Amino acid sequence: MDDTVDTVMEVLRGHASCRRYATDPIDDAPIREIVGAAQRAATSSNLQLWSAIVIRNPATRSRLAELCGGQPHIEAAPVFIAWLADRSRLDRAAELRGYSQDTSTLESFLVAAVDTAVAMQNATVAAEAMGLGTCYIGGLRNDTAAVIELLGLPEHVFPIAGMTLGVPARPSRRTKPRLSLDGVLHCETFTPVDDQTLFDYDEIMRATGIYRDRHQPGTRPDGSAAEQIADDEYGWLEHSARRVSAPQRPNLSEQVRRQGYRLA
Ligand SMILES: Cc1cc2nc3c(=O)[nH]c(=O)nc-3n(C[C@H](O)[C@H](O)[C@H](O)COP(=O)(O)O)c2cc1C
Repeated sequence: MDDTVDTVMEVLRGHASCRRYATDPIDDAPIREIVGAAQRAATSSNLQLWSAIVIRNPATRSRLAELCGGQPHIEAAPVFIAWLADRSRLDRAAELRGYSQDTSTLESFLVAAVDTAVAMQNATVAAEAMGLGTCYIGGLRNDTAAVIELLGLPEHVFPIAGMTLGVPARPSRRTKPRLSLDGVLHCETFTPVDDQTLFDYDEIMRATGIYRDRHQPGTRPDGSAAEQIADDEYGWLEHSARRVSAPQRPNLSEQVRRQGYRLA
């Protein structure tokens, strides 16, 4: 039992997104195991409100890479999995029993999105336990209308995120430091973050050098663009502040509504 705990913890602690892949193909068998592991995840009221599409076709992956903002690892990985919030099965289940599914509230979409996220993470852990590499692709929500058309998604099916999957080009990847545990772990009631926690993490992340040549655009509250700053001043604080300084995917709620969720 202890060995099992150690092994699981080792897989979890060793997580690192993989963006460089070997050309080795991935058989159906491990993919079925990975998606099967996702199915074992907890799911709200056992409704299982998600689906996964496995995409190997190079032309489709190439189009997806484009739609996801030109991310080269989508073409480099032999497999792309589109993870979808899916209430379409429940439309049919309700119909078969003489009901009609209500998708008028935000909750109906959120539950399906959470179910999908919980399932995806099981898939990530399963894949990494098998020595495979994955990377989530939130870019799948950049142009959901095009993704919906490309993948033929019906009403009540909405892309939550993609995932690249393949054999890592390098056997071990550097894990990315996280905030200190006390920066995210609260006791009994909520405690606002203290600045020192953020400064300490900023320093740690700056020292990794991962932001070199990766400065984000940012928008000041008066609408002006973020000014250029030197690499040694650009850390997690600047990077994250810039990332959250402008609206992200502002037409998403419109797209979700078009797929039949009213979000009331
Ligand atoms: C929902 C979600 C969406 C993400 N989208 C992308 C993406 O579009 N492209 C990418 O390269 N990485 C993406 N990532 C990976 C994150 O950048 C990565 O998890 C984070 O930087 C922490 O690094 P690590 O996973 O190596 O620990 C995404 C991660 C999550 C959870």
